[in-house]
Amino acid sequence: MNTSSQHLQQPLLGVNIDHVATLRQVRGVDYPSPLAAALLCEQAGADGITIHLREDRRHIQDADVYDIAQQLTTRLNLEMAATTEMLAIACEVKPFWVCLVPEKRAELTTEGGLDVVGQITWLTDYISQLHAANIKVSLFIDPDEAQIEAAVACQADAVELHTGAYAEMGLASNTAGQRAELQRIEHAVSHAQLADNKLLINAGHGLSRDNVHAIAQIKGIYELNIGHALIADAVFVGLAQAVTMMKAAMYR
Ligand code: PXP
Repeated sequence: MNTSSQHLQQPLLGVNIDHVATLRQVRGVDYPSPLAAALLCEQAGADGITIHLREDRRHIQDADVYDIAQQLTTRLNLEMAATTEMLAIACEVKPFWVCLVPEKRAELTTEGGLDVVGQITWLTDYISQLHAANIKVSLFIDPDEAQIEAAVACQADAVELHTGAYAEMGLASNTAGQRAELQRIEHAVSHAQLADNKLLINAGHGLSRDNVHAIAQIKGIYELNIGHALIADAVFVGLAQAVTMMKAAMYR
């Protein structure tokens, strides 16, 4: 991967299609199809597809992971908790990326970043097993210097910076707070570049057409992972158009 030139480009768009599966699971039926959604997003210009196989299987199911992995033409990013069960699945499916996230059963969505500092030994070993299966590993972390340094120490290939606090400040119309969170993310990107110039830097969570532009402008971000707001747009304009509109909002 030529990371140095990729860092200079505008960020790629990874589309998280978990909530297509949510819609299916709330009725216990077999539609809408996450696989069809993934392929449509790719045709519309998504640079990759993200799915989160949660321990409680609330949206994406095991069969979705296998089906999508087989048919994607871009890159699959499999989000998962760093558990033994998930390691076995990932090593069988062999997605291009695994993104390790913290997981709590009761949460509505991933609430905070992974505590890499507190579990360096476990994560270093876990990541080395994914590397042995030829899978690249990203760690979903808060935009925090110590977490970034720990991710580098664990030999992660990428970090995904949690943009949830930035997004929430915007929803609360807290402009000063949102500016501060943006600066925190900008600082984290610079720190990550200094810590390891081969580390890819992604970002995501809570991003929407309203707030994505400032994040997409940060030099050095490789990819943005966007789900909920894009799927919500798709309700009104269709999935392909929602992808087009998100890219337009990123690059405007
Ligand atoms: N990145 C990670 C690591 C996530 O866990 C999620 C939510 O599943 C996202 C990005 C996408 O967040 P959202 O659905 O708010 O766009």
